[in-house]
Amino acid sequence: MQSLSGVLASSTLSKSLQEVLTVTTNTCIDISSTLKKGSLAGILGMAGNENVQGEEQKKLDVISNDMLKSALLAIPEVRAIASEEEEDIVPAHTNGEYLIAFDPLDGSSNIDINSMVGTIFSIYSKTGNQPATEQDFLIAGNQQVAAGYVLYGPSTMLVFTTGSGVAMYTLDVDKSEFILTQESVSVPKDTQEFAINVSNQRFWSENIQNYTHDLIAGKEGPREKNFNMRWVAAMVGDVHRIMCRGGIFIYPWDKKDPSKAGKLRLMYEANPMAMLVEQSGGKAYTHTQRILDIEPTGIHQRVAVILGAANEVDKCLSY
Ligand code: F6P
Ligand code: MN
Repeated sequence: MQSLSGVLASSTLSKSLQEVLTVTTNTCIDISSTLKKGSLAGILGMAGNENVQGEEQKKLDVISNDMLKSALLAIPEVRAIASEEEEDIVPAHTNGEYLIAFDPLDGSSNIDINSMVGTIFSIYSKTGNQPATEQDFLIAGNQQVAAGYVLYGPSTMLVFTTGSGVAMYTLDVDKSEFILTQESVSVPKDTQEFAINVSNQRFWSENIQNYTHDLIAGKEGPREKNFNMRWVAAMVGDVHRIMCRGGIFIYPWDKKDPSKAGKLRLMYEANPMAMLVEQSGGKAYTHTQRILDIEPTGIHQRVAVILGAANEVDKCLSY
């Protein structure tokens, strides 16, 4: 059984990228232990463990953000970070080689019901030695040097890519290290399973309404096959299911709030997941373009997301 540290050490990745990946994933192991404490973490996780009364309890998404932020800012390889929990980018070392964008705790509304959540990360390399600006982050997803997520479920799993396929690791809690449990993840081209929040149906475009109508019509409809539906309500959980057994995940544009292109964030949700899905043989699009080709306009930009089984994504876009 190969550990993540062994795989990284024998890879051709630069030492500096190995360090960023090691620090990111080790921090996720710490986040995983914190999550196991549940609502006690806000109390126990605070300095000295003594301040039970009077002090505001930190929420787990804020705690996770603080953990990743302090761990990454501490290493010289990091130029800057961008996080769902930080309004602006946080510059670190002017000589740092990497920019890291992350969603520290995706699906955080699931925390209240003790259900699946995860950390999603996206890494870019950056040359030069100027202090980082938001503009530095506004690079298309096809330039990511690594992307991945850690899923905090019944077991904690790391799924990541550095641009040549996707591997899955499972946390060995006794040793506090990730062990390689699946190489070469592959998303089948066809599927009979979809994920979309149907309660938004009336707000969708006509194409998505027609497409889902035909899925639900099953064997008797134009698709001539039955479809199953799943919705974890944490992108990381829904995408993980697709990485394990295929499917299509859709968070479309909707007219609930016309100022938003969709609900999900490009830099730390759509881009890293799109890279993982493409590296597994799937596709990831908005209604009109490949997600990885979008030129970002802001670090918290939202996009519509249609990803998963290649033929099913094509079918969805053909409506
Ligand atoms: O981060 C946003 C997010 O929580 C995703 O993880 C998830 O896919 C989606 O929102 C859930 O949305 P809804 O509240 O519509 O179910
Ligand atoms: Mn999220």
